[in-house]
Amino acid sequence: MTGPRASGADWWRQAVVYQVYPRSFADANGDGLGDLAGITRRIPHLVDLGVDAVWLSPFYPSALADGGYDVDDHRDVDPKIGTLAEFDAMVEALHAAGLKLVVDIVPNHSSDRHPWFRAALAAGPGSPERERYVFRHSADGPPTDWTASFGGPTWEPVGDGWWYLHMFAPEQPDWNWDHPDVREDHERTLRFWADRGVDGFRIDVAHYLTKDLTGPLPTQAEIEAGTVPEGTHPFNDRDDVHEVYRSWRKVFDQYDPPRMAVAEAVVPTHRRPRYASAEGLGQAFNFDLLEADFDPGQFRAVVEQNLDLARSAGSTSTWVLSNHDQVRHTSRYALPTGTSLTAWLLSDGTEPRADEACGLRRARAATAFLLALPGSAYLYQGEELGLPEVADLPGVVLQDPTWIRSLGTTKGRDGCRVPLPWSASGPSFGFGPEDGRPAHLPQPPWFARYAVEAEEADAGSTLAFYRAALARRRELLGGEDLEFLDSPEGVVVFERPGGWVCATNFTTSAVPLPSGEVVLSSSGDPSGVGLTELPGESTVWVQRAG
Ligand code: GLC
Repeated sequence: MTGPRASGADWWRQAVVYQVYPRSFADANGDGLGDLAGITRRIPHLVDLGVDAVWLSPFYPSALADGGYDVDDHRDVDPKIGTLAEFDAMVEALHAAGLKLVVDIVPNHSSDRHPWFRAALAAGPGSPERERYVFRHSADGPPTDWTASFGGPTWEPVGDGWWYLHMFAPEQPDWNWDHPDVREDHERTLRFWADRGVDGFRIDVAHYLTKDLTGPLPTQAEIEAGTVPEGTHPFNDRDDVHEVYRSWRKVFDQYDPPRMAVAEAVVPTHRRPRYASAEGLGQAFNFDLLEADFDPGQFRAVVEQNLDLARSAGSTSTWVLSNHDQVRHTSRYALPTGTSLTAWLLSDGTEPRADEACGLRRARAATAFLLALPGSAYLYQGEELGLPEVADLPGVVLQDPTWIRSLGTTKGRDGCRVPLPWSASGPSFGFGPEDGRPAHLPQPPWFARYAVEAEEADAGSTLAFYRAALARRRELLGGEDLEFLDSPEGVVVFERPGGWVCATNFTTSAVPLPSGEVVLSSSGDPSGVGLTELPGESTVWVQRAG
């Protein structure tokens, strides 16, 4: 490994953060479910890859009604995947390897097994226990006609005309953020993990939390039409949610270095800087590249807009192509533009057929583009292997609540959550021990080709490309500026401080290389050795003299 890792209070500004979805990363105890000991054991993979930090999706006690985003207790580890002692050992090992740790905080809702929710149900209407959640009385049907994120109504009946609000699954009751207990308890949770050495927090659905259901409430149709005024929506992206984050910032700043936070805030772009401000969470996810087609105009516009937005908040942008909620980008790029991913998954990935070679070519080109941008790069486990989506999981094995709640019309997110292949053979491709139980979601036979072991043995593999790209990035990374340069039609070229030039050819024919020494190529040998032109659908990094 070369170059210093990000350090100091600003370590996150241009960090490469690797998302671990713990139940599908590595299974040390052989029960078919990934665990914390598995993560600790696989730290060498992260070090060899060259990332700066790990973002760990929820590992808290949970019935897994929503893959762990239904949290029974925010200050403990799910006994199915480890213990607090194993958590501490993992933090120590990550830090010893020079890696930071960001954990997921899920503040909009708890699970329905949380002691406070159980107490609320037991205590009955009008009780102080019920005040911590959002209960409403409505004798004739749900209080509103709102649709929950995974389908079905947002209100669940509990008898006698009482209902509770859940923006996601019924097993995820929404907290009442007007309640001081809820505010205090979350700050206690942040301190609990910060005290254990956690370096930062990823804030789940940061745009929800605060609510005002007192006024006349809009219908689902009005919400979808976008006619509800910004900032005063009954539950979404309310101005007053930032009071919560200003208060959290005071907690983060009590630590040295201050703890970082990144908001998952799915809001109109111009509202994003509020979440990323230094008085608030400090950084906000931008999913615009993930949502863009492989298209030069779209990529360039997304970069220009997001660099401006991040600057206006005094923050840096975040770049994402895949995560645990989305069809993997190698598969997205393998499909004709405009393909409905929902329909494609329902057809088990047969209509249309994916052009896998094209998907992988574009995915690597987009990754090299992303890794050359100023700001933080968030990588999702398995993308360093070029892993495609497992599109043909049968309905009976699906775990995502979307499948059931949509009555089998939307498959959901399991296809990107299939446990990783570490070795090319064995019952779970090295995800668990040889004598362990099968992985909790079935791995297809073709996973063998994408195994870490197989790719380590291949100098032209996607893994070799990611390792080379991250090592080069560390050597080349300097200031946060970016300047677009003139380029032929269909090619986007930009320069970073120190003469680091990134050129992406979105067309299918080769174009001349930019001048300078090629130091990375997304196609062929990652070093770019012998490259005489910039092939179609590929990216190079070039180092310009002086
Ligand atoms: C976020 C998570 C997603 C989860 C949802 C509810 O969007 O990324 O996985 O289902 O929040 O917590």
